[in-house]
Amino acid sequence: MKITLSSLLTSLVIILAGCTSGQTVNLNDLRVEMKENPVGIGVAHPRFMWKLSSGSPDLMQTSYQIQVAESPDQLKSGKDLLWDSGEVKSDESVLIPYGGTPLQSRKQYYWRVKANTNQGPTEWSKTNTWSMTLLNPSDWKATWIGEKNLSNPGETYKGKTRLAARYLRKEFTADKPVHRAVLYISGLGSSESYINGKRISEDIFAPGPSWCPSRVYYNVYDVTGLLSKDKNTIGIVLGNGRYFGMRDLQEATLPSLLAQLEIEYADGSQTILVSDTSWKVTSKGPIIANNEFDGEEYDARQELNGWNKNGFDDSKWLTADVMDTPAGELTVQANPNLRIQEQIKPVGITERPDGKYIIDMGQNMVGRLAIDLKGKKDQPITLKFAEILKEDGSLYLDNLRSANVTDIYTPAQDGKFSWEPSFVYHGFRFMEISGLDYKPELASFTGKVIYDQMNTTGKFETSNPLVNQIYKNAYWGIRGNYRGMPTDCPQRDERHGWLGDRVTGAYGEAFIFNNALLYNKWLQDIEDSQSPEGSISDVSPRYWTIYNDDVTWPAAYFYVANLLYRQFGDKSAIIKHYPSMKRWMQHMEATAMQDNIMIKDTYGDWCMPPESQELIHSQDPARKTDGAILATTMYYSLLNMMSEFARLSGQEKDIATYQQLAAKMKEAYNAKFFNPETAQYGNNTVTANLLSLRLGLVPKGYETKVFANIVKKTEEDFGGHVSTGVLGIQHLMRGLSEYGRVDIAWKIATNETYPSWGYMAKKGATTIWELWNGDTADPAMNSANHVMLLGDLIIWYYEDLAGIKCAPESIAYKKLIMAPVFPEGLDSVSASYESVYGEIKSAWTKKDGAFKWDITIPGNTSAVVRIPKEFGVTASGQPGIRQTNETADYTEFEIGSGSYHFANK
Ligand code: BGC
Repeated sequence: MKITLSSLLTSLVIILAGCTSGQTVNLNDLRVEMKENPVGIGVAHPRFMWKLSSGSPDLMQTSYQIQVAESPDQLKSGKDLLWDSGEVKSDESVLIPYGGTPLQSRKQYYWRVKANTNQGPTEWSKTNTWSMTLLNPSDWKATWIGEKNLSNPGETYKGKTRLAARYLRKEFTADKPVHRAVLYISGLGSSESYINGKRISEDIFAPGPSWCPSRVYYNVYDVTGLLSKDKNTIGIVLGNGRYFGMRDLQEATLPSLLAQLEIEYADGSQTILVSDTSWKVTSKGPIIANNEFDGEEYDARQELNGWNKNGFDDSKWLTADVMDTPAGELTVQANPNLRIQEQIKPVGITERPDGKYIIDMGQNMVGRLAIDLKGKKDQPITLKFAEILKEDGSLYLDNLRSANVTDIYTPAQDGKFSWEPSFVYHGFRFMEISGLDYKPELASFTGKVIYDQMNTTGKFETSNPLVNQIYKNAYWGIRGNYRGMPTDCPQRDERHGWLGDRVTGAYGEAFIFNNALLYNKWLQDIEDSQSPEGSISDVSPRYWTIYNDDVTWPAAYFYVANLLYRQFGDKSAIIKHYPSMKRWMQHMEATAMQDNIMIKDTYGDWCMPPESQELIHSQDPARKTDGAILATTMYYSLLNMMSEFARLSGQEKDIATYQQLAAKMKEAYNAKFFNPETAQYGNNTVTANLLSLRLGLVPKGYETKVFANIVKKTEEDFGGHVSTGVLGIQHLMRGLSEYGRVDIAWKIATNETYPSWGYMAKKGATTIWELWNGDTADPAMNSANHVMLLGDLIIWYYEDLAGIKCAPESIAYKKLIMAPVFPEGLDSVSASYESVYGEIKSAWTKKDGAFKWDITIPGNTSAVVRIPKEFGVTASGQPGIRQTNETADYTEFEIGSGSYHFANK
């Protein structure tokens, strides 16, 4: 490359961060099993991770050393270490497994790490800790308890189920100074726990939902700080959650509690308090009904003042019944529970002719509403929730189907009260309140936004307000659909873990949120829901058991496992589920394959835009993609994935089988569906051609011709609009960009007319709809808060628009390829993503010939930065830039960690 003085003057690359050497190298964000100082780890070899940073560019780790001990003192003295990894020459800092003497049930451990880098060594990190859970089934001494009967008015487990909450309590003494107290607890379906009247945590809907015949989760809490000397009381409220389910149960799986409180005293002695028949129970408390579809009813006249504190008179309560032990394996929950993650205030209130009021939250949100109001004794106040209003300003409830979405509070006296339900959530923007005899103030309502506890890892903003609105809608929709599993929707009588909705979406979500633990958990739900024959349930946990034996929905099992590995460097799910995945692959091959074509498909390219805006599903054969095309291309992609999974799982012997079948399928598929004259697949839908292309089935040499058909169809038949449903949309934005038509991708991303994400936003959507025509279609299926139609949009935002992309040969952003696309009409993008190595930032502007790009990549990573040659950016010899290459179209810089500024003016 030739560098002239003028190019040096006009083009600059400035290292913003300090460039002096000899600065300290920091090691921070220590994690065990992805959590900070976790309590109750259940794996034999917990994995450690950390991040490295320094003030100088191009920081790389050269070795690390981890030490583990039973006490901080031992760690410091280096004596009696349980594990000293010694100096390991390696640049790995993500999920390094423990390799010391076996870890023991319930014990607490301490660890530290130091690293060597190309800029010198770090100090020892601070000392962090974790504790193990009960590792042996025999450690459990507790009994499942509860109240065995339906004993309140209207209670039923048929049809719309109804049940009051159960309150359980037990007083106990802790007569010596306490060193450590740990509670192991499973309150099915949902529980709120107290010690001495204080909540033991802010967790909501604990424990996580599961298919209980296969698995039951429990949580572990360190409650040392809550115990008092001498007398103590533990109190648990049990709601229904998904255990005493919302509709029609085969049998009354009544809420049940398993609790074991282990107290270690300072003198080394120990006591264990367990749930058993010495506990008292009542269902005559204030929560007289709770059902996630129908709402919560709270009768303040039945409040049990002081029930969770010492000295409460429980003589009228019942002796706790021993409940049936759920069949599932008792398992410690590794993913955090839900919490209130944000609070928002309403933006408007209107009075209705019937004296009711409608509150507008200004945002379709998921969670619940806390109220501070004035009531009259015995006069119920009713809250009803909806996503949309009808034209006359009343609530639109048709799309909620049978969900009753009604919270009711009955005051025990006249005057002020504050209330918030415990065991329900709603998907809503609007709330209608009745039973008040005055106009309430907006300040009386607080929207509590509830979803799984996880970090927001991504930020994304552009110069285009519509794109920003769509991103915001996606952000609200994604988090609103996390309820211990990814749900299809949060409002109607469904709210299930539908697999097809997340095949690719989960990957996009993983930029915005660190959802690794949630999705790890969901893969276990999928395996737990598998049939003995190998079928995967399209809904997992299988509250609806749907063994369709399609490929397109179960594919989520594989794609999500792959995502966890590629985005977070976590291959544990791949290894753990490999046998079950293989079983499903074989089952499908045996039962749904004919002449190397997968023939089974139920849903088609679900929710593609129909020919008439009133329809839910298209009836037009020309728009519909052949199910065998969907199933075969997707199964083919799974065979390729399984080859990689086999390698990662040490099952190399399986690889040849997958590859041979893949080769046979590709041949059969092209023979059956490909027309070499026209370069069309099947009836030439965008989805058919796109899946064939992106999943690698197109015969060599035909790629651009097949792509030309995608372009033609999109432009000529759909006026530059999306024509795909849930399947095609998973590849649309990346596919158009990859083959050079960023302009069409950008048009689709910014369309305001039907069908498009922009159309939804222009129609007032603050989340993403289930249907492209969600405003006009039949209410039977038009949730205003689904995320499946996002397809690969979020991935495209981050990888293609922002240029934050993991190099294909690398894992978890150890090496990046930063090569944004620059659509005409887009002036700037500013994005960041907190990867497992640290924060990656990319912010570019391009206007009137001036181009600027700020990049930051974290310690222990590197990147190839690719800029179109025509932008005229050159640079050399700058700290952190390892190399500069010129290709025909691009200038490429190979950079180490640090912050960089590229510009052409
Ligand atoms: C759900 C979808 C799901 C679909 C499958 C719908 O009712 O809401 O998200 O994937 O059914 O048929």
